[in-house]
Formats: sequence, C-alpha cells, structure tokens
Amino acid sequence: MSQTHTVTFRFADGASRAIDVAEDETLLDAALAGGVPLMHQCRSGSCSSCIATICEGDTSNQPGSSSTLLASEYEAGHRLLCVSRAQSDCTFDLSYGSAEGGVVPVEVNAFVNAIEPIASNVVKLSLELAEGNWLSFKPGQFVQIEVPGVGKLRSYSPVSTEADLPTLELLIRLLPEGVMSSWLKSGANVDDVVKLKGPYGAFFLREKRRAPHIFVAGGTGLAPVLSMIDRMRQIGGRKPPMLLSFGCATSDALFYLDELELRRQWLPGLDTRICVDREPDSCYHNGSPVSALRPEDVTDPDTVAYLCGPQGMIDAATRRLIELGVAPENVFAEQFVPSN
Ligand code: FES
Repeated sequence: MSQTHTVTFRFADGASRAIDVAEDETLLDAALAGGVPLMHQCRSGSCSSCIATICEGDTSNQPGSSSTLLASEYEAGHRLLCVSRAQSDCTFDLSYGSAEGGVVPVEVNAFVNAIEPIASNVVKLSLELAEGNWLSFKPGQFVQIEVPGVGKLRSYSPVSTEADLPTLELLIRLLPEGVMSSWLKSGANVDDVVKLKGPYGAFFLREKRRAPHIFVAGGTGLAPVLSMIDRMRQIGGRKPPMLLSFGCATSDALFYLDELELRRQWLPGLDTRICVDREPDSCYHNGSPVSALRPEDVTDPDTVAYLCGPQGMIDAATRRLIELGVAPENVFAEQFVPSN
C-alpha cells in the first residue's frame, strides 16, 4: 500500500482545503476526488490550467508524463498538478479564488459571422453565440472549438471581452498543415455553426491588482493580452500604468496596430512597444518583445506581468522580469502548445 501525505491547497480568496493524497496518484486526481475546486482541462500536462505554486514539501513527476512547464516556471515553484505526485506533506498556493476554480465549462453553438485575414499568417474569426447559448469567460482564459468536419478540438483565447458577447472574436495563426487553418482557408463560410466549450485556464486578469502591469505578447499571444487591456479599460476608477511589449518575426506578420493605437489614446497610462526581430531596418524595435523590456520598467515591487506567446519567449520573459524585480508569484504566463 502506498504512503499518503497531507496536501493543503490555499486559494487566493483565503479559502483552504487539506486532503490526504497517496504517493502513487496525481495531485489533481486526488483533489478532484476530494471535491477541491481546481481548474483543469487536459489532465495530461499540456494546457497549464492546473498550475499551482508549491510553498512547502516535495513533488515528483508522474512516470511517463510530459509537462509543458518551462524550466524558469519550475524554478519559480510552479507545478502542474495533473502530472505531479506528492513525495511529502505539501502546501500549494492557487492564484485564483475557490469560486473561480469551481466554474464548470459549458458547451455552446456559435455561428460564423466573419473570417478576416489580418496579417500574412493570422485570421480573425468572428463568432456569434446562438440564441439561448452563453459562455462566460475571464479575459485571458481560453475556449475550445471543434473544427467542423474533422471533429478535432483547438484552443484559442478570445481577443474580445465578455462585454462583447454574444460576439466572440478569435485570432488564429495559420499553420501549413493545421486542421483549423485548412478549414478556415477552404471550408469555412459565414453562417456555419461551430461548437465551443469553455471557459478554461488559470491565465486571466487579476482585476483587483492596482500595481503597474506589464504585458508581453508574441504573435497571436496578443489576443488574451488585448482582452485583458480592454477589460482594464472597462473597469471603473484610476488605471495602473500599463506597458505592452508585442512582437512578431517580420513587419508583414504584425497586426492590430491601429487597434493598439486606439487603446493608447483611450488609456493615457498605456505604453506600447512594437517589435520585429528579423528585420533590422524596420521602423519598429529591432528584437524580441523581451529585449524591449528595460530596467526602468519595473520600479514597483508589486508589478504584475502577463505573458503569452511561444515557449522560448515565455521562458526569456519570465527570467528577465524576475531579474528586473518582478516577484515570481506575480508573473502569469500562457504558452502556445503545438496541437497533436
Ligand atoms: S489540466 Fe494539467 S496541464 Fe492541463
């Protein structure tokens, strides 16, 4: 019989739950069986929804499992509960409240309103929820869409906010062999019906934080970040200083520059840096959105950072922000994970 350990989960709203976990079961399985409201989706280490920060104790990885957690995130104490086992009594902090963890995803139908290419490799897909359907989400969370005719699920974070519902907008990067890309290029039509499921993910705007915000986005990682910035605009009261560093490989891959200019006018406290790393002669910052970060960007120890983009960018941004003085627990990240 395997040994058991006491594992405590502390939620951001002050609620806490302790359960006994056997050494041979995953922390997520044990927590869900014990009724602990933890966010989760894939249960296989690939979506980051079940991320938590270990404060005390030791864990090991579930044998044979893989995890998308980056070395910098692991060093900062983050763990994916669906692929982690307890090796001792442990305490974990969750970055969301117990009520948020208990939200149950819903399945809805939506109509295609428009399919609009907005850059050399990005399409904006506008959807409208069917009458009687509703899908609430926090800015930064993702939904799954079932690709019509293929039945495969793909995950995207809306660039729109809940205030725009029943309209929902997704920014989709076109991939040469992608099933979603193929459908968008040759099968999709206005008024087609698609199935959506969500919301998912622990990457969402913590609305009560009033310290400076830094957003770092690569490619279509701009979508959840822009949703967060728009939500900040919708919330009443004084806005904290905000910096958005956004980049693509080349200038023809950039998109939403007019939209960003509009946000700059609406939000005087918003600074934006547009970056291109493969065109030294372009008029934009020459380099990645991480290289555009400067020491003077972090002057407040409570600064909060939200990062979304490819693995390498997230890893570099996490290290750079911590080096500049952002507390590891104030760095929230969502990386692109290739679909199988
Ligand atoms: S539920 Fe753990 S990574 Fe997806």
